[in-house]
Amino acid sequence: MAVLEILKYPHPILRKRSETVTRIDGEVKKLIEDMRETMYHAGGIGLAACQIGVPQRVIVLDVSPMDPQYSYVALINPEVISEEGEVDHEEGCLSVPDCLEKVKRKERVSVRGLSPQGREIEMKGEGILAIALQHEMDHLNGILILDRVSRLKREIYRNKLKKEKRKEERP
Ligand code: NI
Repeated sequence: MAVLEILKYPHPILRKRSETVTRIDGEVKKLIEDMRETMYHAGGIGLAACQIGVPQRVIVLDVSPMDPQYSYVALINPEVISEEGEVDHEEGCLSVPDCLEKVKRKERVSVRGLSPQGREIEMKGEGILAIALQHEMDHLNGILILDRVSRLKREIYRNKLKKEKRKEERP
């Protein structure tokens, strides 16, 4: 297991559509363990494989710090099978530092995927679990929270990044 570097916006891998996992082998299991460790190390409640540079459809989640009824879960090739309701929820992302924005999400989602043992899992999520599932699944399609806020907020964030970069470059 290893704590890996989390890619930050605007890294191009974060913009790719991740590929379906076709075989759950030792490599995928190791990927999931690395993701789990990296997520906990960063203090996040979810992580998608592309955030550590592997564009495959794998996510890990542990929303228990925000809702103790849930626990750690890893999902391979997750798919939404039903969704309902709408909520606005303030979200952050380990790949988009210093950005907390209200994002429109479905209130409840049911998701199907495979466990690291290759078993089919079906999960019904509401509250923070529903939000985190949608956020991480967005990553698998190259979508970031910045794509779900107004153009103005996106521009403000981009300008802030540019300014910081200029500051770093100055001797
Ligand atoms: Ni994220």
